[in-house]
Amino acid sequence: MPPLRLGIAGLGTVGASLIKGLNSQAEMLADRCGRELLVTAINARDRGRDRGFDLSPYSWIDDPISLATSDDIDVYVELMGGEDDPAYSSVKAALAAGKHVVTANKALLAKHGVELAEIAESNGVLLNYEAAVAGGIPIIKVMRESLTANCVSRVFGILNGTCNYILTRMEAEGMSFEECLADAQRLGYAEADPTFDIEGNDTAHKLAILTSLAFGTKIAPDAIYLEGITAITTEDIAAAKELGYRIKLLGVATRTDSGVESRVHPAMVPLGSAIAEIGGVTNAVTIEADMVGSLMMSGPGAGGEATASAVAGDICDIAKSRPGYQHGPALGQPAATLLPHTQAA
Ligand code: NDP
Ligand code: HSE
Repeated sequence: MPPLRLGIAGLGTVGASLIKGLNSQAEMLADRCGRELLVTAINARDRGRDRGFDLSPYSWIDDPISLATSDDIDVYVELMGGEDDPAYSSVKAALAAGKHVVTANKALLAKHGVELAEIAESNGVLLNYEAAVAGGIPIIKVMRESLTANCVSRVFGILNGTCNYILTRMEAEGMSFEECLADAQRLGYAEADPTFDIEGNDTAHKLAILTSLAFGTKIAPDAIYLEGITAITTEDIAAAKELGYRIKLLGVATRTDSGVESRVHPAMVPLGSAIAEIGGVTNAVTIEADMVGSLMMSGPGAGGEATASAVAGDICDIAKSRPGYQHGPALGQPAATLLPHTQAA
């Protein structure tokens, strides 16, 4: 088989970790995928920045759209972030040009995911986005493929590593909100604009994606009740503990008689419960469904290497795929009945 040629836009926390991982695991990946995974072209804003690896083996293409549509790539890997351009136009251009796309960009998918999934489908290419929800946890594959036989009644969890890291350290070390957030930024967990993390928007983006897969709803982050963690103080955390609870930022989507109710807000969870024990950057997603019962997956929700692991897994799926191969239902395509959103009370 010829190598699978990759064009990577975005060489920050995730992009740089991906290139390092693809290089260090090259032989094993080629063996497992049945073909070499070859990064041919790259792009970021600042060509001169030291990224901790040698850029010289790759063609630098200044403009993300030119990279996305280059004849030298088979897969466009979008790791720039942002719900609009250049992420949106470049992903759209790549799909229209018949390139497979892998992205970790939940803001983009929450806003344009259905349109992009439709373009992918009509061009016979794959749009893979495992890293967009809960970092290293392979929750998208489980929702799209492994749980196909289930009717989901509820999906909920801790979906933002930055917020969980902040709440954990505020409780364990009495640190201020601001100090914890600065550490999360330094460690590469936070979004480029961290208000997306702490105001709950990032959790809402991920919940919208999960909701679409679980219930076949349209992706509608605006239909989600939203409250972040900026008002939580160390005193609140201590008071909750005295009462036998811990504060967590949760995303919850529930099937009701009239549709799907989805909400993001801080919640008091009982000490000793499984979700209360999820600390630091770890995420946890619970799915309640008719056949499987209750299923909880936990693992690193943010960070370069863990996220690059999910991106690399998506690339390998493409490398192994054959013409006509499709995953389970893509975004916004109902597995069963299309349910409306209802606003939480
Ligand atoms: P970073 O901010 O670390 O990196 C972003 C990269 O994109 C940088 O290399 C930047 O270039 C480049 N970039 C930004 N804007 C442009 C532009 N207009 N044109 C060209 N290049 C641009 O982000 P992350 O690596 O943390 O995140 C990347 C994506 O992955 C985002 O969608 C994020 O939500 C998602 N994600 C991140 C996780 C994490 O733990 N960090 C986890 C899961 C998903 P330059 O370096 O030159 O400034
Ligand atoms: N900023 C996000 C988080 C990155 O902290 O969870 C992973 O999506």
